[in-house]
Amino acid sequence: MSPAEPRRVEHLETDKGYVPVYTTTVIDQPWASYSPADHQTWATLFERQRQILTGRACDEFIDNQQRFGMTPDAIPRFDDLNEVLANATGWQLIGVEGLLPELTFFEHLANKRFPVTWWIRKPEQIDYIAEPDLFHDLFGHVPLLLNREFADYMQAYGRGGVKAHAIGSDALVNLTRLYWYTVEFGLIRQDGNLRIYGSGIVSSKGESIHCLESPAPNRLGFDLQRIMRTRYRIDTYQKTYFVIDSFEQLMAATRPDFRPIYTDLLAQPAIAAGEILASDCVFQRGTGEGWASGADV
Ligand code: PHE
Ligand code: FE
Repeated sequence: MSPAEPRRVEHLETDKGYVPVYTTTVIDQPWASYSPADHQTWATLFERQRQILTGRACDEFIDNQQRFGMTPDAIPRFDDLNEVLANATGWQLIGVEGLLPELTFFEHLANKRFPVTWWIRKPEQIDYIAEPDLFHDLFGHVPLLLNREFADYMQAYGRGGVKAHAIGSDALVNLTRLYWYTVEFGLIRQDGNLRIYGSGIVSSKGESIHCLESPAPNRLGFDLQRIMRTRYRIDTYQKTYFVIDSFEQLMAATRPDFRPIYTDLLAQPAIAAGEILASDCVFQRGTGEGWASGADV
């Protein structure tokens, strides 16, 4: 019997709002249980995003999605994607019910396992869903796991997460901000233009355009410690995006041991999501139009 509904174990009221927590069970993707409506949701989102992302997402993202053979025709099978991954970077997709406890998530990444939510959003959630679903995880995160540098970064992040978890909650907050501003909402410079690589952006119709074309947000050069001090919002478009020059730059900047950095950061105040510092490399100073106040995480 395949699960028809995801199994939430509890809901937590946190500083990020109402957050569902799921079982840590790893499950086989119940592919046969997807309904025609589920496949249609995949098709609609896939076609819409591919159109928007041509010329907006970085080349590696588009190329690797093609290498995987992802198409709008049907929700991809994890088994098929895993064959491609195994030969390329040795990563493996595992099916999960949804967001995992932090340490469990880090341990998967450290072992080159990427957890993918098996269920897809309902038709009425097509434009917005507050938690990650199959479309976000698969369409958004999985393509770059075929890229050697990026895949290595994800594994290093997982190991770093296990370490930060042992150090304490301040270190975890710093590290989570790095994930947010790179893996989820990162921009990259390619041929002199800004392009998207963040999964939170590529799986969002509105933000895919907003992050590059709107005058509202700040676009700043990547700066490790600065990012680790920067708060963010989870319920609106980002006020600030950070731009890397290459995945190699990201790897090089994050290679050093973070322990002394975590210690230094204890003495430095957090930075609001929309703030610009004198030391920032500014590609674009946002107008701040439409920004909601407060509620930074
Ligand atoms: N170098 C980091 C540490 O020592 C690990 C890490 C690598 C974290 C890549 C994030 C991204 O903790
Ligand atoms: Fe994500």
